[in-house]
Amino acid sequence: MDFKLTEEHIMIRDAARDFAKNELLPGVIERDEKQEFPKEQIKKMGELGFLGMMVSPEYGGGGMDTVSYVLAMEEISKIDASASVVMSVNNSLVCWGLEKFANEEQKQKYLTKLATGESIGAFCLSEPEAGSDATSQRTTAIEKDDHYLLNGTKNWITNGSTADFYLVIAQTDKEKKHKGINAFIVEKGMEGFEIGPKEQKLGIRGSDTHSLNFNDVKVPKENRIGEDGFGFKFAMKTLSGGRIGIAAQALGIAAGAYELAREYSKVRKAFGTEIMNHQAIAFKLADMHTSIEASRHLVMKAACDKDNGENYDLSGAMAKLFASKTAMDVTVEAVQVHGGNGYVKEYHVERLMRDAKITQIYEGTSEIQKIVISRSILRD
Ligand code: CAA
Repeated sequence: MDFKLTEEHIMIRDAARDFAKNELLPGVIERDEKQEFPKEQIKKMGELGFLGMMVSPEYGGGGMDTVSYVLAMEEISKIDASASVVMSVNNSLVCWGLEKFANEEQKQKYLTKLATGESIGAFCLSEPEAGSDATSQRTTAIEKDDHYLLNGTKNWITNGSTADFYLVIAQTDKEKKHKGINAFIVEKGMEGFEIGPKEQKLGIRGSDTHSLNFNDVKVPKENRIGEDGFGFKFAMKTLSGGRIGIAAQALGIAAGAYELAREYSKVRKAFGTEIMNHQAIAFKLADMHTSIEASRHLVMKAACDKDNGENYDLSGAMAKLFASKTAMDVTVEAVQVHGGNGYVKEYHVERLMRDAKITQIYEGTSEIQKIVISRSILRD
């Protein structure tokens, strides 16, 4: 398979790399420590077009392909995975879902603002008792006159308090199980919509994760996305693409940690020589590089499948499964290469190790990816 990048791809990758080094690196340790959202940086990312990369220019987006998106995701994630999760959710879950399935009026009203970064979006599927088991939605949306009455709680919502628009999945008819689920656009400030406290997290601490409560929120009927009962498929289709973005995030975290470990090994001396001259370290770096390259191939394959109009459920799940394991393995090894320095904040690798873990959990745990993969290879 030929993954040769075009000049435009290289330009986008380099622009993301420069942005990450110049704008995200300064203060990344402090933001992690204080759990501080990178507000100014996200605003700039919107101005540079990183928040609506794949949206058609007609709706204010960059009109780019998925390959460009994963290249940018990798570069941003090498430095700041808290910023890249905001980028990932806005691009893949919110903008993509709306462009693909919302009606023209909804696109004009919401997508145009989300694609330019003027507004931020959130994707609300998980619940206290419905994380992996997404069909078991407890949040209800009961049809009344010209609106739906929304009640329930959503958990672990990325961009929970910073978002302006929320795509909320809810049960409209319990009897119909997954066919009785719908997706709605909910605006911040709607009466009865409350944002819960911020979660205290292990990693991606700069990102803003909250639970959300809906108490008799009146959601206008025109805010339902697609036909009645389309919500579960909407969520699954959207998450399939989202997994490519998270795979690219995991790849970036791994590559960032590897690059730091490689450079450290060239300057740190032990037993009279730079540690890269010890096979114990050189072999670790060889393993890290190999698994990163393998992840990159899987991520690019999934991105190309999406760009070529092929089914990407399988390739996206494989990319996420493998890249997230790589992120975990490589970051642990990067800390080991750094020895005692790896355990302190200023060397960055301990943060990357903490950030890596979430890539095995959100947008479907590794076990969920194995369900998707095994069903695909056994049933197709
Ligand atoms: N595309 C289109 N349709 C799909 C689909 C897909 N990728 N996957 C499933 N469906 C359809 C099926 O065809 C089926 O429809 P029909 O009845 O018409 O045939 C329907 O959906 C139900 O499918 P399943 O029977 O396969 O459903 P299931 O209950 O067995 O669940 C699952 C499948 C893969 C386990 C799914 O529940 C799942 O993906 N769970 C994980 C949820 C998840 O990723 N949560 C993450 C939260 S979001 C997040 O993390 C965002 C963030 O903030 C970072």
